[in-house]
Amino acid sequence: MKIIRTALEIHQYCSNLKKTGRKIGFVPTMGALHDGHLSLIDLSLLKCDVTILSIFVNPAQFNESLDFKNYPRQESEDLLKIGHRKVDAVFIPSVDEMYSKNEPMLEFDLEGLDLVLEGKWRPGHFKGVITVVDKLFRLISPDKAYFGQKDFQQLCIIKKMSAALHPNTEVIGCEIIREPNGLAMSSRNALLTDTEKLEALIISKTLFEIKDNWEKSSIQELLNNAKREFEKSNLQLEYLEIVDAETLNSIYTKSNSPSIACIAAKSGNVRLIDNIILY
Ligand code: PAJ
Repeated sequence: MKIIRTALEIHQYCSNLKKTGRKIGFVPTMGALHDGHLSLIDLSLLKCDVTILSIFVNPAQFNESLDFKNYPRQESEDLLKIGHRKVDAVFIPSVDEMYSKNEPMLEFDLEGLDLVLEGKWRPGHFKGVITVVDKLFRLISPDKAYFGQKDFQQLCIIKKMSAALHPNTEVIGCEIIREPNGLAMSSRNALLTDTEKLEALIISKTLFEIKDNWEKSSIQELLNNAKREFEKSNLQLEYLEIVDAETLNSIYTKSNSPSIACIAAKSGNVRLIDNIILY
C-alpha cells in the first residue's frame, strides 16, 4: 500500500493508472476509521481494479473551530486497520497541500439542498464539503466514488455536484453500518464515554420507532412522540425532520415518494447525526 502525501504525486499516480485502463475506486474520509468506512473500502475493492482512500480532516467544512480541533485524528491506527485490505494507495495530505492561503470555496448552486437540515445548523458546511470533494475528484479522477447514506444530505449534494462537474465519476451511496445495538458508526463516537454511547442509542431507537409506526401514525404524532422522548434524555435534539428523499424538504403528509427521517442531536459537545429511509 502506497502512502502519498502530496497533490502532485497522487495526481501523477492516478494519471498513470488511467493510462492502463484500470478502473479507480475512491473512498474519501476524514479518518478515525470504523467499520462504516471499511464497508465503503470493501465495496470499492470488490467493484474496482484499484482502490484509493483519502484521509483528510477538512478545515473548510467545520463551522466551529473547537469541533475541528477535537476531531479524532488517528493516522497510525487507521493505517493498521486497513493494513490487511488490498488498498492500493492512501492519500494523506496536509492542509497546506490542499489549500492555498485565502483560497476561495467552490461556487456551485446546490438549488437549496444545502440550506435545509444540516445546512441550517452548520452554515457553510456543505460549501467546504463540495470544495474538498471537487478537489479530490480533480486529483484522482475516480471512475467510482463511495459515500455513506449515514450522511444522506451530503450524499445528495455530492451526487448533484459530481453530475455537473465530474460526469465521468459515478457516485455510489452505501448503506449505514451500525453497532449491534443500533448506534450508527461514526468517528465522533470515539469522543463519547461508554455512558454517553448508551444514551446516544435514543437516536437510532427513535428512527427505528418512526419506521415501525410509519403506516399506523401520522407524521405529526410520530414527531411529537419522538420529541417527548428526547426531552427526557441527556441529549439535546437539534432537529428531527421527515423530509422528501429527493428535495430534502420537510413533509407533513405521507406521499408515494420515498421519504427519510433525519436527526441531529448533541451529547455534550459531540454532535451526532443519523437517518432512516421510510417508504
Ligand atoms: P467521514 O465522516 O470520515 O466519512 C467518510 C465516509 O464514510 C462518508 O461517505 C460517510 O457517509 C461514510 N460513513 C460514515 N459513517 C458511516 C456508517 N456508519 N456507515 C456507512 N458509511 C459511513 O463524510 C466525510 O468524512 C467528509 O465530509 C468527506 C466526504 C470525506 C469530505 O471531507
